[in-house]
Amino acid sequence: MSDLLFDRLGGADGVTSIVKSVVANHLANPTIKTRYENIEDLDATAQKVVEFFTVGSGGPGEYTGRSMEETHKGMNVSEEEFLAVVDDTMKAIKDHGLSEETYKDVLAILYSLKGEIVRK
Ligand code: HEM
Repeated sequence: MSDLLFDRLGGADGVTSIVKSVVANHLANPTIKTRYENIEDLDATAQKVVEFFTVGSGGPGEYTGRSMEETHKGMNVSEEEFLAVVDDTMKAIKDHGLSEETYKDVLAILYSLKGEIVRK
């Protein structure tokens, strides 16, 4: 298998399936569920997240959404909420049976975005 994170995530089908699980996890997570219930078009947001993961993991196409800072500005996202999003995402990675190396790579990428998302 190629080293590319996108390929290790299972390519386009894998990323789409992971994002579906992440959204389901968020909607079941009491710490953050209302944030996601209040999104007007959750499918459209999920599609942007698919693009974001695809491009961020070395996959094809382009990200057509807003920057992380722009997107989350004015939301005053707390550290607890940030951790909840990371936990939900890492649970999805685990549920997809991906390797330990892939788990660590995704965790490192998510954590690196903290400063662009928390308390903006
Ligand atoms: C590393 C963590 C995160 C990543 C990678 C991420 C990524 C994204 C992306 C790509 C979008 C779509 C942007 C667009 O439509 O232009 C988005 C939207 C959104 N995110 Fe995050 N996000 C993260 C953390 C969080 C946290 C912690 C919260 C709050 C609990 C949050 C709440 C939202 C909401 C409510 C939207 C919809 C915004 C809107 O359309 O008005 N996100 N996020």
